[in-house]
Amino acid sequence: MTKPVFDSMRDYLDALESRGLVVSFDGVDQDAYEATAIMYQLVDEFGKYEAPAVVFRNIKIDGTVHPGPVIANPEGHLNTEALLLGTPQDPRDVQETYRLATAAMLELLEQNAGQWPAIPPHEIAAAAAPCKQVRLTGDAIDITRFAFMQGNPGDGGAYINTASVVTGDAELGVNLGTYRCQIKGPRKIMVNFVCGQTGRRMLDAARERGEDSIPVALVIGQDPMTWMISSSRVPSRVRDRGPIDELAIAGGIRGRAIDVVLTEDGNFRVPAHAEMVLEGTVDLHNLEAEGPYHEMFGYMGIPVEKNYVMTVNTVTHRESPWMFNSFTGVTREYITAPQRADSLYQLRKAFPQVVDYNTPADSPGFVYISIKKDAPGQAFKIAESTAKYNVFGRVVVVVDDDIDIQDSAAVRFAIGSRWQPATAQKIFEGRRAFALDPASPDRSTTSKIIIDATRQWPEEGGPPFYQELNRAVFERAAPDAVQKVVQKWPDKLLRT
Ligand SMILES: Cc1cc2nc3c(=O)[nH]c(=O)nc-3n(C[C@H](O)[C@H](O)[C@H](O)COP(=O)(O)O)c2cc1C
Repeated sequence: MTKPVFDSMRDYLDALESRGLVVSFDGVDQDAYEATAIMYQLVDEFGKYEAPAVVFRNIKIDGTVHPGPVIANPEGHLNTEALLLGTPQDPRDVQETYRLATAAMLELLEQNAGQWPAIPPHEIAAAAAPCKQVRLTGDAIDITRFAFMQGNPGDGGAYINTASVVTGDAELGVNLGTYRCQIKGPRKIMVNFVCGQTGRRMLDAARERGEDSIPVALVIGQDPMTWMISSSRVPSRVRDRGPIDELAIAGGIRGRAIDVVLTEDGNFRVPAHAEMVLEGTVDLHNLEAEGPYHEMFGYMGIPVEKNYVMTVNTVTHRESPWMFNSFTGVTREYITAPQRADSLYQLRKAFPQVVDYNTPADSPGFVYISIKKDAPGQAFKIAESTAKYNVFGRVVVVVDDDIDIQDSAAVRFAIGSRWQPATAQKIFEGRRAFALDPASPDRSTTSKIIIDATRQWPEEGGPPFYQELNRAVFERAAPDAVQKVVQKWPDKLLRT
């Protein structure tokens, strides 16, 4: 199977369009929050896993009509996993497509002893780099002129919310993190480096070294693999502690080097086919208020009293740059098969009984694990490490391997029919909470629960034996019945 490689967001949009995965809107009024309403409606109608990508043209923002386009939800649909990873697509079942993508990523890790392949970025000349077609410096810069929008009426203002924030240091290497950035003025941006994130660790280290500011570049309208790397836990910075060049991992996963170009200030090599690059410095001492923002758990965030201020010194961009907006908390943000496979690989290495691992986009805060249990109490052992290390996972549910953990309803079936609440749970108090956790009582710690929804063995307090599933009895007696009725009445039994 050939793997398409997309150097730019534009190439990628073409591919999405040719697969019918894009819907375009002309003349949307975001001053009346029409773009936001469109995204809510698409997700209500098609779900997070099948909502299409969106292109907004002639979008009104703060009284100005921007020709755009502004792109949204480019990696929400599960078929984008297959498109970007070059894995097979099941024409009838997006969940099967996602399963195949995860399996392929797992195989890649298994072949490389758990390491992501790396292909160092390929540097090209500034004259050949599309992101350098226009250069602005000093007071010629006014980032408020571009189509950055306020996504929710409760937000503190307009945000750049898809920038890959590039930072670097000798200990950790080159990091790209997607951190929301509130626009405060023509050259003033707030960057939300949350505690514990790699960008923040670099920033804290610089302050400890006695520095007053650090150089930062924001890459906007990046290619789809760079977006995934920047937004996800791939590579795992918790596990792999040495210096990593994240752009080399993006190149390794897609199978071809990312073209990069030196920033004007000479500090970073950034994706050359991006739409826009903002260069500047972040002050390490003078902090200012930022937020609120419509956050990923689906709740309005709390305004941050002291957050980091970036002064933009240089902007380079394509002619008529495209913009990219995240409707955070509404859509699925990026392809997750690599991140899921990474967690699965690590968990299986420690516990070979693990069959599958999933953090469902339709139920933020949950982690599902399926196992082939071969000893009593095993579900707890397996789930404990996840509850400890996965900062997003507040509710860890372990089920038997006959439950499809890509299906939240199937997991609820296991909880509803197999779980014994009195004996098959463990609660941990005072665990570190993700900074945006809306339920953390003190805004820094949280309690967590492990739910063991596997069939409980007698020695785990379960019944003397488990009844068979109706469906298992049916399938044993009539193994081909479903297939036969589908063949007989396809138009009545298959979605068109
Ligand atoms: C649209 C979007 C906005 C995000 N905003 C933030 C943010 O403001 N601050 C933050 O620390 N993480 C944010 N994240 C999550 C990080 O990008 C993610 O945790 C990533 O793995 C960061 O990794 P790194 O810190 O190792 O680079 C956001 C993710 C997305 C997709």
